[in-house]
Amino acid sequence: MTRLIFLGAPGAGKGTQAETLAHHRNIPHISTGDILRQAMQKQTPLGVKAQDYVSRGELVPDQLVNDLVKERLYEPDTEQGWILDGFPRKVSQASFLDELLQEKHNHQVVRVVNLEVPDDVLMARLLARGRADDNEEVIRRRLEVYREQTAPLIDFYRDRQQLICVNGDQSLDEVTAELLDVIDS
Ligand code: AP5
Repeated sequence: MTRLIFLGAPGAGKGTQAETLAHHRNIPHISTGDILRQAMQKQTPLGVKAQDYVSRGELVPDQLVNDLVKERLYEPDTEQGWILDGFPRKVSQASFLDELLQEKHNHQVVRVVNLEVPDDVLMARLLARGRADDNEEVIRRRLEVYREQTAPLIDFYRDRQQLICVNGDQSLDEVTAELLDVIDS
C-alpha cells in the first residue's frame, strides 16, 4: 500500500514526480494546487475564494483546502493508496490530516518525501515554466511562505520518523529512480 505525502519548495518537482509515481503504482495523485487551479479556471465558488490568495503566492485558508482534501480522500479510488502533493502545507493542516487518517485508516503509516533542491535551481525552473503564479515577485513570496509555514513540517515528520529526504536536484529519471528505491525499501 503506497500512501505518500510530497513535501518540497515550489519547483522542487513534487507535481512531476508525484504524477510519475502515481502512474507507476496506479493510484491517484492528489494535488491541492491542481484542484485549486481547476476550480479557478471554472470559476466555481472554491475557485473564486482561492483566486486572490493563489495569485499573490499566499496560502489559501485552511478550511478551503482541508474540506477539499477530506472530500477527495473519501473517493473510492483512494482505497489502494494515494499520493498527496501540496498538502499538508502547515502544521495545522498536518494535524487535520492526522485526524482524518485516524478516522479513515486507523493510523496506518504514511510516508513523507521531502524533495531537496537549492533555491537558485527552484527559481530557474519556475521562471522557465511560466505558470500564472510563476513571475519572479510571486515566486519569491511562495518561497518565503514555504520557509515560514511549510518547512517546519520537515522536522514535524522527521521527529515522527516518517520523513524520507531525496535529492531533487538531479535529472527527472534519476529522481524517480531514487524515489522508487526509497519507497520500496
Ligand atoms: P502548488 O501548485 O502546490 O505550487 P507549488 O508548491 O508552488 O509547487 P509547484 O507546482 O510550483 O512546484 P512542484 O514542486 O510541484 O514542481 P513541478 O513538478 O511542478 O500550489 C499553488 C498555490 O496553491 C499555492 O501557492 C497556494 O496559494 C495554493 N495551495 C496549494 N496547496 C495549498 C495548501 N495545502 N494550503 C493552502 N494553499 C495551497 O516542477 C516545476 C518545474 O520544474 C516544471 O517545469 C518541471 O518540469 C521542472 N522540473 C521538475 N523536476 C525537475 C528536474 N529534476 N530537473 C529539471 N526540471 C525539473
